[in-house]
Amino acid sequence: MRVDRFLSNLPRFNRQQVRLLLVEKRVRIDGKIVSDPHAEVREFSRVEVNDEVLQTGKPLRHFMLHKPAGCVSATRDPQHPTVLDLIHEPDRDDLHIAGRLDFNTTGLMLITNDGSWSRRLTQPQTKLPKVYYVETEQVIGPEYAITFMQGLYFAFEDLTTQPAGLELLGPKSARLSIVEGRYHQVKRMFGHFDNKVMRLHRESMGPLVLDDRLKPGEYRPLSDEEIALI
Ligand code: URA
Repeated sequence: MRVDRFLSNLPRFNRQQVRLLLVEKRVRIDGKIVSDPHAEVREFSRVEVNDEVLQTGKPLRHFMLHKPAGCVSATRDPQHPTVLDLIHEPDRDDLHIAGRLDFNTTGLMLITNDGSWSRRLTQPQTKLPKVYYVETEQVIGPEYAITFMQGLYFAFEDLTTQPAGLELLGPKSARLSIVEGRYHQVKRMFGHFDNKVMRLHRESMGPLVLDDRLKPGEYRPLSDEEIALI
């Protein structure tokens, strides 16, 4: 696509601004300043305007991992295996995790090099429900669902959690849907009732559901349709 069309397709620039950006030599393609409006932008060209990267120049990649217990949601850890150790892909260092899980939590983890996609997925304003399967030490009482729906006060952050939905599955198991991702949120919510979470497994994040063909530790690329859902 021509660079002038590429830029004016972005919501932030109109055609006149694009002309000016090119004349003022503020646009780079693959590191080289361009002023010709016909210059070609390809799918994997790197495009910068005023040193801001508008297109990375690398293919965007999105993966779904079934996180096993006993690994850290970090890119590096001196002691334990990390979720990125499970990903065998070129340019692994460019990847990041969209929505961390605790060491022993299992389930859906999304890994990508697409910063704006992961921001949309995790920013609190999006209010995407994250659904967890929970097993607890003590019986889950009927009062839990009411308290979780009303919101719980977290003194450390000085906030009240957003309404969360609890569906009882058994005396000590439930499915919980939360729209935020506060630090140890699920454990703290059950901790309010002095009930320890024994097993925690993330089933879905918004419309993205863990593929049940993936065993713990396995991953697969997201389909174009899945990527477009976010
Ligand atoms: N809430 C928790 O407490 N732990 C997780 O891993 C995810 C949500």
